[in-house]
Amino acid sequence: MENKDIRFSVEVYNSSEELPPADAALLASAREVTKQAYAPYSNFLVGAVAILSNGERVVGTNQENASYPVGICAERVLLSAISSQYPGMPVDAIAISYNNLNGESDHPISPCGICRQSLAEYEERTKNPIRIIMSGMKGEVYVIEKARQLLPLFFSASDLG
Ligand code: THU
Repeated sequence: MENKDIRFSVEVYNSSEELPPADAALLASAREVTKQAYAPYSNFLVGAVAILSNGERVVGTNQENASYPVGICAERVLLSAISSQYPGMPVDAIAISYNNLNGESDHPISPCGICRQSLAEYEERTKNPIRIIMSGMKGEVYVIEKARQLLPLFFSASDLG
């Protein structure tokens, strides 16, 4: 028996002002795009913006439904839009922000489990790491170098044989 240690590190910035300019611009866009979310049930507006390898930006927001499980997270709305408009296009970075109308939006959130699986497969499919920038409307910013780090031992297409 051996123990396998799986680690990753997160860059922590005190605020968006400390970020490299390209990351700060992408995060500003994610904060702005939260306004386009349709989240009348949770009042938790999520915005995600991607910068593609061709320099284009694509946005996604959470889209809820009166039948609650029908709702889709901003990250998967975003990946579906990218994959439909630019099939197979590598994504260099995604910024994720949120505006919680019921409380504070002052700390980073990270993608839910289902979105982590989607992000990991997109990364694997395009053979390109996706930098993830996470923050609320203000406060600390977390940055990770690849989405896959959020889902160690993830189930992948190669497991299907
Ligand atoms: N949500 C996202 O869009 N992304 C996340 O990373 C976490 C949660 C959405 C789902 C739902 O519409 C609302 O936020 C509250 O869970």
